Amino acid sequence: MAPTEGDKRGPCPGLNTLANHGYLPRSGIVHAQDIVEGALAGLGMSVDVGTVLAAYGVLSEGDTTSNMLSIGALGTSSGLGLSNHGAFEGDASLSRKDAFFGDGQFSGSAFDAEQYAQFKAFNARISQGRATFASLAEYRFQRFQDSVASNADFTFLLPRYLFSYGEAALTLRLFANHKDGEDGSVSEADLDSFFVRNRFPEDWYRVSIAPRATQKGD
Ligand code: HEM
Repeated sequence: MAPTEGDKRGPCPGLNTLANHGYLPRSGIVHAQDIVEGALAGLGMSVDVGTVLAAYGVLSEGDTTSNMLSIGALGTSSGLGLSNHGAFEGDASLSRKDAFFGDGQFSGSAFDAEQYAQFKAFNARISQGRATFASLAEYRFQRFQDSVASNADFTFLLPRYLFSYGEAALTLRLFANHKDGEDGSVSEADLDSFFVRNRFPEDWYRVSIAPRATQKGD
């Protein structure tokens, strides 16, 4: 269901999708526990990874008295929200421009069709249109290089360093369609569904065993 007036949506295609499908409160104002439970139920995010992200989300952009957090722009008694640039939302994103190029503190969180087209161009050139480890590795590096060259406010501190690579990993791990087993890639149609429409793709199956934080990659 598309968000209605006042519902919060933000920089994370995973959380936006979960809220659009009711795995998170549709308002986008969520408790830390909603995130852990909703991310596991909807997308197969393990409890350990979900807990780390939820905790960092609440600590950096939420309300630490109530443990509430907006997955988008600021709400009442839920902190500044994940759309706020700086602590969690950061530079060199896959489908968002750096906040420096926008018109305010929340501008880095808006989906950007041009930026996303660049992501898809890397997938097309490197792996027949699918998002793969190889295409994401190249594209992530390119995003970093572009921001270094053009963004006078470019910031890439330790949390962002970890999460930016984490987001690339989540794309491959949790957006992949596990209907026919996993081959470590995401089709163009499924990628569009998550990134552009923030909807689960048709005939899409989540990972059966949630990948843990300590699990070795392939
Ligand atoms: C449930 C599974 C999740 C998936 C599959 C997922 C996936 C992603 C992806 C692919 C991006 C990159 C978007 C882009 O760069 O254009 C992203 C961004 C983000 N995610 Fe998630 N995510 C998930 C859960 C979470 C959780 C639990 C939190 C925190 C509570 C979170 C917070 C964020 C934030 C703040 C960003 C923006 C970072 C930036 O690019 O500046 N995500 N997520």
